[in-house]
Amino acid sequence: MKPPVLTIDGPSGAGKGTVSRSVAKKLGWHYLDSGSIYRSLAIAVSDKQIDLLDIASIVDIAKAISLEFECGDELVVKLDGVDITDRLPSEATGNVASIIAAYPDVRAVLLQKQKDFQQAPGLVADGRDMGTVVFPEAENKVFLTASAQERASRRYKQLKEKRIDANLAQITKEIEARDRRDQERASAPLKAADDALFIDSSNLSVDQVIEEVMNLIR
Ligand code: C5P
Repeated sequence: MKPPVLTIDGPSGAGKGTVSRSVAKKLGWHYLDSGSIYRSLAIAVSDKQIDLLDIASIVDIAKAISLEFECGDELVVKLDGVDITDRLPSEATGNVASIIAAYPDVRAVLLQKQKDFQQAPGLVADGRDMGTVVFPEAENKVFLTASAQERASRRYKQLKEKRIDANLAQITKEIEARDRRDQERASAPLKAADDALFIDSSNLSVDQVIEEVMNLIR
């Protein structure tokens, strides 16, 4: 018997990270932030100044990188032994991540890295295709969304708290562009699994969303 998995998919800024981390903590389960895998690869590709159309080189880098995730109070991510945690949240990293995430060969290389997180006693997996592609057999699936405006304003506050320079109008535009790219790509597009519980968090507090997810597990 494989350990149980709860998948939480949805567009960027819907609150998946906060909800997933909190639910994982309550359950004592592991946590997979799959976006940080694509973001880490984006950083590796940007640092090596690889052309974003050079798919073969990006695939080679995806095969070669070593990623370590240390899940304490805050997630710490090391790329080839170097702590890149502070570089992960920026919009620039997210945009490069979403461009390279559209390449099927890149997704294929990163698939096993994500499956390896399915460890006892259980896993909360957060991303775009957790319930549809990576863990289609998961017994509990959630699709968490919110309006683009609400998500942009949350992302803006998050970046400000981290003292990262941000502009709300620009973030809204980027979130809409990223949504489009994630939804329209041919390979593992962002969409709710047929058996997912759909939650629109636009008018819900974080605690209310967590409660709904915990009710599903119960
Ligand atoms: O969730 P986050 O904003 O960190 O993800 C960054 C980008 O990585 C997304 O816009 C998406 O293109 C890609 N991604 C993905 N599949 C996942 C998680 C993230 O394609 N499971």
